[in-house]
Amino acid sequence: MPPEDYILRMEGIHKHFGGVHALRGVDLFLRRGEVLAIVGENGAGKSTLVEVLCGNLRPDAGRIIYEGRPVHFAGAMEAAFAGISVVHQELSLVPELSVAENIFCAREPTIPILGFVDRRRLYREAAEMLRRFDLDIPPSTPVRRLPVAIQQMIEIAKALSLDCRVLVLDEPTSTLTEHEIRYLFDIIARLKARGVAVIYISHRIAEVFEIADRIMVLRDGEHVGTRAKDEVTPDDVVRMMVGRALGTGYPQRGGLAGEVVLRVEGLTREPRFRNISFELRAGEILGVAGLVGAGRTEIARAIFGIDRPQAGAIYLDGKKIQVRDPGHAIRLGIGYVPEDRKEQGLFLGLAVRTNIGAASLQANAVLGFMSPSREQRMAEEYVNRLRIRAPSVLTTVSHLSGGNQQKVLLAKWLAIRPRVLIVDEPTRGVDVGAKAEVHSILRELARAGTAVMMISSELPEILGASDRILVIHEGEASGLLSADEATEEKIMFLAAGRGAAAAC
Ligand SMILES: Nc1ncnc2c1ncn2[C@@H]1O[C@H](COP(=O)(O)OP(=O)(O)OP(=O)(O)O)[C@@H](O)[C@H]1O
Ligand SMILES: [Mg+2]
Repeated sequence: MPPEDYILRMEGIHKHFGGVHALRGVDLFLRRGEVLAIVGENGAGKSTLVEVLCGNLRPDAGRIIYEGRPVHFAGAMEAAFAGISVVHQELSLVPELSVAENIFCAREPTIPILGFVDRRRLYREAAEMLRRFDLDIPPSTPVRRLPVAIQQMIEIAKALSLDCRVLVLDEPTSTLTEHEIRYLFDIIARLKARGVAVIYISHRIAEVFEIADRIMVLRDGEHVGTRAKDEVTPDDVVRMMVGRALGTGYPQRGGLAGEVVLRVEGLTREPRFRNISFELRAGEILGVAGLVGAGRTEIARAIFGIDRPQAGAIYLDGKKIQVRDPGHAIRLGIGYVPEDRKEQGLFLGLAVRTNIGAASLQANAVLGFMSPSREQRMAEEYVNRLRIRAPSVLTTVSHLSGGNQQKVLLAKWLAIRPRVLIVDEPTRGVDVGAKAEVHSILRELARAGTAVMMISSELPEILGASDRILVIHEGEASGLLSADEATEEKIMFLAAGRGAAAAC
């Protein structure tokens, strides 16, 4: 293909972070109107490549040719004005600003001559944009009030509001549900038809095979190869990613569940959820399914003592408890891995080791101390098991790739082996190999007697990893299924609120 048919070429890109050689001579060629997927394990260099492209990071070597000319963008804003829009892996919205202000950030429509921001037009255009995404929210809502998935949709809307020729999506679907993913794919197809080129980063291989024309594989900062979709199978791609074949199955279920550890009765916190009752037994994994916004995270937050329920009761080992705050929950033996690692989960400025040790420290507050050597051993054990890619356990967490941060967060909770562990989207952004490891660790914890509640928007994960499945629809329990009777269709049906209220 003659070079002018490529809208974008990145050639021989190198990037170091101190001793870490994150990109080792990577080439990327992007054609007009194609979807190029980039896949690779956590820490392979995908996001770094994107940041180099949009000018947020300066490469140590290599060049970028866009529309036939060498370019050096000073930052994402400049790249956006040139027609390259990026939806970053970490959300970059300003929480205090409204949805409309975020969408049109720094490009608000102004009243001619006067130069004031034309608020009416701003809200009208934002409302139009939101309608295109099926989002029923007033454009004046502050972003911080919205769930992560909706924020993600707004990020995408923001990128599309710029008239882009190249759209880069770094893990856009990790927070989205099936319905929203369909919608996004629809938009991508329309953009393609208009000649827009899309770079699509994802850990969901099935999704990549659905949407991409070509698949580029990175491993340890090296470009392993780029293949047309029709030339390879998903197994080939996984092998290229991890350098070995991987079993894809879920661990065997645990057999009989034990005594009831956690019982929730009539839990209510309007307007998010009401009259929620369920039991969680030692040794079981209870999957919690539902659409984004159904109230699943809010239920978890109430159990963990972040929000106070208005009505209802929680029993732990048969005794009624009133969880005052998260610290209290931890001392009672309840752990919670939140969906939003940046907001609630990690001390980004501290070392991997300190983060992994943090919850154990709190759980053993009587002693208030853990020997450095014990903390070191524990951290090393989890770094190995979860294949956390970090130069050492002393590395600051903010220097890790998104997926590796997620693994550190999980490790922190797995390490204390609580009586009850609530995990919210535990494998979001985690690569295929580590995903299987997370599932096997959850199963192992359950076997050792922990009662696990797993909130997930990924139906295959819900079906593969749970013993029973609780489905939430608009803040109410709409069904409870055993693993044997559950199917994707049944869950979707209940999640959409179309089932008869089942016995919960
Ligand atoms: N600011 C930084 N300082 C130090 N090291 C960094 C920094 N940003 C990235 N790295 C390192 O560069 C490597 C590549 O990271 P990158 O974020 O590109 O991975 P990724 O492929 O996007 O992974 P993920 O799937 O987890 O998002 C990792 O080893 C990471 O720890
Ligand atoms: Mg990344």
